[in-house]
Parts: sequence; C-alpha cells; structure tokens
Amino acid sequence: MHSRSERMMIIWSSCLIFSLSFVFASPLAKHLCRPDQRDALWEFKSEFHFSGMAPNEKTQTWMINNTDCCVWDGVSCDLNTGNVVGLNLWGSSLNGSLRSDSGLFKLQHLQNLNLSSNNLAGILPDSIGNLKRLRVLKLYECNFFGKIPSSIGNLSYLTHLDLEGNGFTGELPESMGKLNKLTKILLSTSKLSGNFHHALLNLSELTWFDLRSNHLEGKLPSNMSSLSKLEHFDIGSNSFSGSIPPSLFMIPSLILLNLEKNSFTGPLEIQNISSSSSSPSRLDTLNLGGNNLNGPIPGFISKLVRLSYLDLSLWNTGKATVDFSIFSRLESLVVLDLSYLNTSSLLEVNLFSKLDSLAVLDLSGNSLKISWSLHLPSPMGSLSLASCNISEFPNFLKTQTDLYYLDISANRIGGKVPDWLWRLPGLVYVDISKNSLSGFDGPKDVIQMSQIEMLDISSNSFQDPFPLLPNSTRFFAAPDNQFSGEIPTTICELVSLDTLLLSNNRFIGSIPRCFKSLLTLLHLRNNSLSGNFPEESISVGLVSLDVGRNRLSGELPRSLINCTRLEFLNVEDNMFNDTFPFWLRLLPDLQFLVLRSNNFHGPIYSLGGGSPSFPKLRIFDISKNIFTGVLPLDYFADWSAMSSGVYTTDNKPERFMGFSFSNYHKAVVLAIKGSEMELLGNGFRMYKTIDVSGNRLEGDIPRSIGLLKGLIVLNMSNNAFTGRIPQSISNLTNLQSLDLSENRLSGNIPPELGKLSFLSLMNFSNNMLEGPIPQGTQIQSQNSSSFAENPGLCGAPLQETCGGGEEVDEVKEENDQVLSWIAVAIAYVPGVLCGLTIGHILTSYKHDWFKRIIHSFA
Ligand SMILES: *[C@@H]1O[C@H](CO)[C@@H](O)[C@H](O)[C@H]1NC(C)=O
Ligand SMILES: *[C@@H]1O[C@H](CO)[C@@H](O)[C@H](O)[C@H]1NC(C)=O
Ligand SMILES: *[C@@H]1O[C@H](CO)[C@@H](O)[C@H](O)[C@H]1NC(C)=O
Ligand SMILES: *[C@@H]1O[C@H](CO)[C@@H](O)[C@H](O)[C@H]1NC(C)=O
Ligand SMILES: *[C@@H]1O[C@H](CO)[C@@H](O)[C@H](O)[C@H]1NC(C)=O
Ligand SMILES: *[C@@H]1O[C@H](CO)[C@@H](O)[C@H](O)[C@H]1NC(C)=O
Ligand SMILES: *[C@@H]1O[C@H](CO)[C@@H](O)[C@H](O)[C@H]1NC(C)=O
Ligand SMILES: *[C@@H]1O[C@H](CO)[C@@H](O)[C@H](O)[C@H]1NC(C)=O
Ligand SMILES: *[C@@H]1O[C@H](CO)[C@@H](O)[C@H](O)[C@H]1NC(C)=O
Ligand SMILES: *[C@@H]1O[C@H](CO)[C@@H](O)[C@H](O)[C@H]1NC(C)=O
Ligand SMILES: *[C@@H]1O[C@H](CO)[C@@H](O)[C@H](O)[C@H]1NC(C)=O
Repeated sequence: MHSRSERMMIIWSSCLIFSLSFVFASPLAKHLCRPDQRDALWEFKSEFHFSGMAPNEKTQTWMINNTDCCVWDGVSCDLNTGNVVGLNLWGSSLNGSLRSDSGLFKLQHLQNLNLSSNNLAGILPDSIGNLKRLRVLKLYECNFFGKIPSSIGNLSYLTHLDLEGNGFTGELPESMGKLNKLTKILLSTSKLSGNFHHALLNLSELTWFDLRSNHLEGKLPSNMSSLSKLEHFDIGSNSFSGSIPPSLFMIPSLILLNLEKNSFTGPLEIQNISSSSSSPSRLDTLNLGGNNLNGPIPGFISKLVRLSYLDLSLWNTGKATVDFSIFSRLESLVVLDLSYLNTSSLLEVNLFSKLDSLAVLDLSGNSLKISWSLHLPSPMGSLSLASCNISEFPNFLKTQTDLYYLDISANRIGGKVPDWLWRLPGLVYVDISKNSLSGFDGPKDVIQMSQIEMLDISSNSFQDPFPLLPNSTRFFAAPDNQFSGEIPTTICELVSLDTLLLSNNRFIGSIPRCFKSLLTLLHLRNNSLSGNFPEESISVGLVSLDVGRNRLSGELPRSLINCTRLEFLNVEDNMFNDTFPFWLRLLPDLQFLVLRSNNFHGPIYSLGGGSPSFPKLRIFDISKNIFTGVLPLDYFADWSAMSSGVYTTDNKPERFMGFSFSNYHKAVVLAIKGSEMELLGNGFRMYKTIDVSGNRLEGDIPRSIGLLKGLIVLNMSNNAFTGRIPQSISNLTNLQSLDLSENRLSGNIPPELGKLSFLSLMNFSNNMLEGPIPQGTQIQSQNSSSFAENPGLCGAPLQETCGGGEEVDEVKEENDQVLSWIAVAIAYVPGVLCGLTIGHILTSYKHDWFKRIIHSFA
C-alpha cells in the first residue's frame, strides 16, 4: 500500500530520472562504477554461500569481468560520480550473518539499502553506523537478533527505517532520538522490550511509527504532541500500561491509532478533541480493544466522524449505562467492535441501521434488543452476537446475503435453526453453540446446499436426525447434544474434514471405518460406542484422539503407529484388552497418554522393549488396569519433558496456528486432588502427572522418579510396591500431590519429604512404614488418615507418640500461607480454562483475522 505522498514521490522521482537521463544521455557523461566500490560489492557477495541456483539470487548474475558494477542486478549508481548509491537485494537468498567488516560497509555513498527478506541470522553490526549517507534502510524479515546497535543514531540523513519482523531484543537505542529527519519507523513483530523512550519525542518529522507486536512496557510519555506530523501510530500487542495520554488525540494529522492488546488502564477523559466542523479529526482507525480501560465510554468519539474502524472491546464501564447513540453518528464505520463493555444498558441494534458501510460488527457480551422489524441496510460480512441474551433466532439475518461469519453462541435461542440460514450464499463460518436449539428446519439436506466450512453446534439439545453436511466442511463440532444411533457414515464422504468432535452424545454401535481424510482431531468421548477400534478408522494425520468413556474392546489399533503427529491419546474407561503399547514410543510428539480404567495387562517394562522413553510425555495415566511386573531403577530416565521445571518455562499462551485449534485437543480428565476436572487450554501445560495407581506393579519404586522435577502429581497407590520410599522423591520440588498408599512399602518416610513446600496432599496409608513421621510443615498439616494402617509409624499427626523422643510442636503459620497459595492456584486454573472454550478461541481468532481482511480493503 502506497500512501498518497509516496505515490507523488514516485511520480516525481520518475520524472526526474527521465529528465536526468535525457541530459546525461551522451556517452561521455556516463560514469562507470568506481573500482573500489565494485570490489566492495564483490567482497560482500563472496561473504555468502549459495546453496544452489534459486531463481532470485540476484548476486549470482554479477560478473567480476564486467567492470561496470552499475549494471549489476540490484545496484544503482550516481551517474555523475559512479558511486554506488543504492543496493536492493531484497529476497535474494542471502544466507549467513552480516560481518562487522563486511564489504557492505565500504559502500560509503549508499543512500538506499534494502536487504529485506534474506536470512542474515545474527546481530546487526555496529558498522551499519558507517553508512552515514543512508536515507532509506530496509532490513525487514532478515532474522536479525540481539540489540539494535546504537550507532544507528549516526545515520543522520535517515528518513525511512524498516526493521520489521526480526528477532531484535533489548531496548530501542536512545540515539534514535537524534534522527530528526526520520519520517517512518517500522519495527513491528520483534522482541523489543523496555520503555517508550522520551528521546523518541524528538522525532518531529515522523509520520509513521509502528511498534506493533513487541514486548514493550511502561507508560507512554504524557506529552506526545511533539510528534506533530504523526499519521500512523501503532503500538498494539505490547505490554504498555498506565493511562492513554490525551495528547495523542490532539495530534491533528493522526489517521490511525492502534493501542489494542496492551494493559492501558483507567478512564479516558478528553475535553478538547482537535476537531471542529471546519476541520474534523482525520482519524480513520481507532483501536483501543483488549486493554483494561474503564469508566464511561468517552463522548468525544462521536466527533471522530471519519472513523471507519473502531474497536473498544473489553472496555469495562463497570455496569454503568452507555449512550450507544454516539456510534450511530459515525457513518463511515466499516468495522465496529463493542464487545464486552460490561454495561447495564440494553443495546438497540436499530441504532446501527444508518451505518451504510458497516461490514464487521461485534456486539458480544452486551444485552441486545433486536426488534422484529430490524433491517440493517449494509451488507454485513461478519457478525458476532455471542452472549447477548438473545432468545430468538435473529430474523434480520435473512437479508444479510453477504454474511460470511456468524457467531450467536452462548445465548438462549431455542427451537430449530431456520432453513434460510443455509441459503445465505457466502456463509462459511457458523457458531451457534451453547444455546437450546433442538434441530434443523427444512429438508434433510438443507445444510448440504451451503458452503459451510466450520460449524459449531456444541452444547445444545440437538437430536436426530444427524445433519447432512456439505463437502466443504472442515470443522464440525457437535459435542454435548443428544444425537443417538450409529455415527452416520455420511461423515466419511466429507473429503475436507479436519476436525470432528462428537463427545457427550448417545451414539451407539461401532466407530465408522472411514475417517481416512486428513482428520487431525477426532473426539468421540463419552458415548456408548462398542466393538473393536478398527485399524481403518485411524487417519495418519491425527494429532488428538479421544475415545474415552465408551465400551470399546479388543486391542488398540496398531495403525496409530503411523500417526507421527499424535500428541494426545485418551482411551480411558473402555474395555480395551491389550498389552502395554510400547510401540507408541515411536511417536515423537506424544504428550498425553491416558489408558486409565481398561483391561491393559502385562508388564510396562520389558527386557526386549526396554523402558518406554517418551521425550515429550507430560501426562501418563495408566491407572486402574492389570499391569504387572517390576520396574528397573532407571525406568524414568529419559522422560525429558517431565524433567524440566514447570514455572520456569515460558507460560505464554500458545499461538493459534491457522485453523488447527491447537488447544482444544488437550482436553482431558485428570484425577487431581481426588476430584476429576476437565482441563482445557493453556493452563494445561502446567500439569505433569504420573498415575500408575490401581495396578499390580511390584518391586521397588524406581529411584529415577527423582529426575522428573516438573512432576506435580504422582500417584502410585494401590499396587504391590515393596522396599523403601526412594529418597529421590524429595527432589520433586514442584510436587503438589503424592499418593503411595496401599502398597507394601517399608522403612521410614524420608525426612527430606518434609521440605517439599508445595506438597499439599499426601497419602502413605496402608503400608508397612515405620519410624517417626517427618516434622515438615506440610506433612504436619495432613489428616492423620494419610498415615493410617502403618503398624510402625508414630508421631503427629498420628496419636501414637514415638517411644522416648520429645515431640516438638511446630508452628504451622507459614504453612497455611503456602496451602492457601496452592488453593488459589488450583482454583484459578479451571476458571481460566473454562474461558478458553473452543468456540471462543475460534471466534476471536477468525473474527480478528476477518476484521483485518475487511479493513485492508476498506
Ligand atoms: C564474463 O565471464 C563469463 C564467464 O566467466 C562470460 O560468460 C561472459 O561473457 C564474460 N563477460 C564479459 C563482459 O566479458
Ligand atoms: C544457510 O546456511 C546454513 C549453514 O551455513 C545451512 O545450514 C542452511 O541450510 C542454509 N539455508 C538455506 C536456505 O540455504
Ligand atoms: C527495497 O528497497 C528499494 C529501495 O528503497 C525499493 O526500491 C524496493 O522497492 C524495496 N523492495 C521491497 C520489496 O520493499
Ligand atoms: C557513532 O555512534 C557510536 C555509538 O552511538 C558513537 O560511539 C560514535 O562516536 C559515533 N560516531 C560518529 C562518527 O558519530
Ligand atoms: C533532540 O533534538 C535536539 C535538537 O534537534 C538535540 O539537541 C537533542 O540532543 C535531541 N535529544 C535526544 C534525546 O536525542
Ligand atoms: C508539549 O509539547 C509541546 C510541543 O513540544 C509544547 O508546546 C507544550 O508546552 C508541551 N506541553 C506540556 C504540558 O508539556
Ligand atoms: C478547549 O478549547 C477551548 C476553545 O477551543 C479553549 O478555550 C480551551 O482552552 C481548551 N481547553 C483545553 C484544556 O485545551
Ligand atoms: C462430496 O464428494 C464426494 C466425493 O468427491 C461425492 O461423491 C459426493 O457426491 C459429494 N457430495 C456432495 C453433497 O456434493
Ligand atoms: C503404516 O503405513 C505403512 C505405509 O503406508 C503401511 O505399510 C503399514 O502397514 C502401516 N502400519 C500399520 C501398523 O498400519
Ligand atoms: C483378554 O483377552 C484374552 C485373550 O485374548 C483373554 O484370555 C482374557 O480373558 C481377556 N481379559 C479380559 C480381562 O477380558
Ligand atoms: C537431587 O538432585 C540433585 C541434582 O539436581 C542430585 O545431585 C541429587 O543426587 C538428587 N538427590 C537424590 C536423592 O536423587
């Protein structure tokens, strides 16, 4: 996208070039490139190794015997002097880091340098500051890392700096404040941190300032008005906090202001917006969504009459009233996001009937009033009305023939889905989950006529017949409904199906022998499916397979071994009768293996098969089966994922890649703290669990258990383990729950266990342990039943005092603190997780994406 001024510039400069070439057209006037510059270029070229002949390796066409380097591809010279003034090797397959003594830095006359989209992985050397005549520096998408060198402040002629899409870290160099000719700074999508430096306020010629998607933090300076020519200011997706400086809104030239997805707080009060009827604000895009703003929605917004994009989502008005009429005056709006304003006002959708250009509207999380006669004249592309307390299917959609994306999830809509919905020709994405819908109006194949790709009908009351879906379907989610009978084989004909979620219905019969397409997620949990799991039902692309809580029997399908991307496998609560699937260790990405409550039998270690070393495994639950045998001491030696700490690894949310909803498939039921809870989403990565309880394992508990330092829950109860409790367990400093009850363990409880400060739940009962119970703070807060039925144990919390020894009554206060911390942590996780239901993730992802698409055309 060229701005108008850029276009003018191009026209102007091509005129100039044209006239210059006219003047200097005589052969005498034309200078060849200077030999030192040619040598420098040649030297630069030879610093890189070329893998082969990629089509755009411009430097491969350079010929040393051709003395005029000015004709080399990508090189431009000053025709008067023969100096190289421009080098454009954008996307030329340069591979290798830029050396500080690179030939490049000898090109002292360079004014224009563009090495973007090459692989220059490494630091950007200080020597860049030697190219003192640079005006334009473009190094986007070059895989640079490390700091931006402060020598960049020596480039005093620089007008245009583009370093987007690298891995730069650290702060922006203060020296940039010296570059007072800069008009454009593009630094988005790196890893820059630190504050917004006051020195940047010196850059009074700036028109374009883009710092989006970095890790910048702290407050913005209160007086931003020195950036008086700013048109485009984008600092979205950082961690800025504090209040939004009103001075930003006083910059009359501003066209785009994007502050989304930061942590800005507080109310926004602006008395004098720079607008009058004679010179209205030029602001076209205002994005304040996804912050912690609160207080009333500022009325000045109604004066921003040129706005086409407005996002105020998640503005917390504190249940106050909102005068929604201020938006009805913004007649140029194309994108409007007012979701989750926490207001007590009822929003009349009628208000928007004057907005002729509206294409994307998100009113989710507000109470809506939709009159029966509502008609929105503008052709809407995307409409989100989730959690809007709507009780009837919104009829006005009937005329929205451009609708592509519809989210009316989490409302109170009952009855049947009207058949006209599927006749909206552009409809691709539909989320009607979490309502009380019971069926589909119209003929049996009504949906099949549509071009739907993603359909989420989960958590409703849908009953048979099961809908016939179009071949375009990629994502179909129907868990938590009342479908029954056999899973229809029509599903098998859906050639594009990627995700099929049918858990928590009443399906019977066997698993269809078909899912051969490119299915990556298959969840059939909690139905009444029976029979064997057919080998043919396994699609090699599977990432997540959950058939738990059915009545499946026989062996695990061996064809799973070809699913090299499998991360999640849950077959719990069935009647599988098989030996331990040693062969699964060939799956490099397996993270979750749940075989709980089946008839798996035999050893989980074999001399021939060795230890199942699962490098990425985080959840290992083989409880309630009939496993037998002894485990060698080094059994857990190669379980590397569990060996790393939990809280030290980065807790950033996983990124949602395209349409593979990476979080959903991690849903699993875990036994934690005695009660089962559904874990979904990011909090999940915290859990590292081993549960082998309820089997017939015997011999010593392997000492190597102490290597699994990330472990949070360890349950080895109800087996036939003998010997002593390995001391190494006291190395599991993240452990929150330890259950060794109902075994035949003997000896002491290792005193070091008393030091495990997160260990809030433990059970040693029903063993043959003896000696004093360790005096650690956590241990002492346990119920005495945790130690019961051990003939030789003594000391608090048991009644039995230890013969002879003086008992110290430890104070338990700091202990309480730890306990309550744990309680908070445990309570917190499910809360967070519930918010991350698939619908929501999907919605926000897709919708966001759509907003951008629409906007880029607007
Ligand atoms: C330069 O050398 C290459 C081969 O090395 C040859 O193909 C080309 O014709 C030469 N060009 C000139 C201008 O001599
Ligand atoms: C770049 O170079 C490195 C080593 O020098 C090599 O491993 C890598 O494959 C190269 N990449 C490309 C795209 O040629
Ligand atoms: C690279 O920079 C040069 C010089 O500014 C410019 O002409 C060219 O369009 C740029 N290429 C890309 C792909 O940005
Ligand atoms: C260039 O920048 C560096 C670092 O900011 C500085 O130390 C050096 O003196 C500057 N050189 C010139 C010639 O300005
Ligand atoms: C700001 O600009 C002035 C004059 O242009 C200069 O003297 C001063 O050093 C600059 N400040 C910073 C922090 O670069
Ligand atoms: C803000 O900066 C402008 C221009 O630099 C100046 O005129 C004005 O006095 C400053 N205001 C405050 C409150 O510092
Ligand atoms: C607001 O604008 C009025 C008139 O345009 C002016 O008199 C007043 O000083 C301004 N107030 C502030 C806080 O800038
Ligand atoms: C879907 O595709 C399959 C195979 O390409 C085809 O047999 C079937 O008729 C198609 N179904 C519809 C409804 O178009
Ligand atoms: C895995 O795939 C290969 C090649 O498609 C096939 O020959 C083999 O039988 C498959 N293995 C299993 C256990 O299904
Ligand atoms: C498992 O299968 C074997 C034979 O295949 C059978 O002997 C055994 O009784 C089965 N076990 C259970 C618990 O069903
Ligand atoms: C605990 O871990 C440390 C190092 O992490 C190791 O040196 C020590 O031997 C371990 N202790 C036990 C009892 O395994």
